Amino acid sequence: MAGRMAGKVVVVTGAARGIGRGCAEMLAREGARVVIGDVRADEGAAAAEAITAGGGEALFVQTDVVQEDQCAALVQAAATTFGKLDGLVNNVGWFPRAMLEDTTTEFWDQVLNVNLRGAFYCCKHAVPLMRANKGGSIVNIGSLNGIQGLPNLIAYASAKGGLLAMTKTLAGAYAGDRIRANYIIPGWVLTDTEIALHAGRGLSEEDLLRAGAALPLGRHQTPEDTAYAVIYLLSDESAQVTGTVMHIDAGASTLPIPPSSPYVG
Ligand SMILES: NC(=O)c1ccc[n+]([C@@H]2O[C@H](COP(=O)([O-])OP(=O)(O)OC[C@H]3O[C@@H](n4cnc5c(N)ncnc54)[C@H](O)[C@@H]3O)[C@@H](O)[C@H]2O)c1
Repeated sequence: MAGRMAGKVVVVTGAARGIGRGCAEMLAREGARVVIGDVRADEGAAAAEAITAGGGEALFVQTDVVQEDQCAALVQAAATTFGKLDGLVNNVGWFPRAMLEDTTTEFWDQVLNVNLRGAFYCCKHAVPLMRANKGGSIVNIGSLNGIQGLPNLIAYASAKGGLLAMTKTLAGAYAGDRIRANYIIPGWVLTDTEIALHAGRGLSEEDLLRAGAALPLGRHQTPEDTAYAVIYLLSDESAQVTGTVMHIDAGASTLPIPPSSPYVG
């Protein structure tokens, strides 16, 4: 398949839905062979089938990224099925809210495990395959919270901050192996999970769309907005780019968040 990702084999975690699915679909349209790792069996399989039905190549491997052996099996499936591994997108994320004093040890561990430990396992097992491939590209899907967290996202912000530090550390550690690592900040994306989270707080989709229209560039960001950046960072177009933070957040990091925004709270 021709395209900017022609010939590349890429693993995308958390690609059964949301931003990850948008990335997997665009990667396949650009010619990548995509391995989807997600804990949701039915949705993950459906995502891979949709790509295949559209003329792309995709494989689904049910994976809980909190389990090291499952992460190892996920990246190995790319090499076994498609012959190598060029790219890894650590997209799995979970963003439940809790202020500091409501953050229990169990909650902290769960959030850190899903958002940080999973990416560590996937990187750990992907790097040897990338080294054997004489190079590769890792894209970690972060958050603005990884730089400055919201008050009720203490654990999530800590995990995404850790992911940022891990990204820069890997970039330095593996540049000699031609393995690059970069961090994307997707802004505010109305995925089903995000909509459900705010619905639980009494906000309708219309409320959220109104809040999006008030954002600096006039709308929420989409999975496709992130996917364009993922493709750049996984392709040879970014061969000299590593250790960077790419903001796909319409300038959110440059402006104070209005106290009335549903993004806060
Ligand atoms: N939606 C936003 O506004 C937003 C903003 C900034 C950053 N992000 C980040 O973008 C990424 C994707 O967010 P999203 O909104 O698409 O989320 P989502 O909930 O729509 O999708 C997350 C996917 O990860 C999977 N997943 C969750 N736990 C898993 C586990 N233990 N093992 C394997 N798969 C697991 C889910 O099944 C789901 O398919 C996350 O890292 C998130 O932190 C999202």
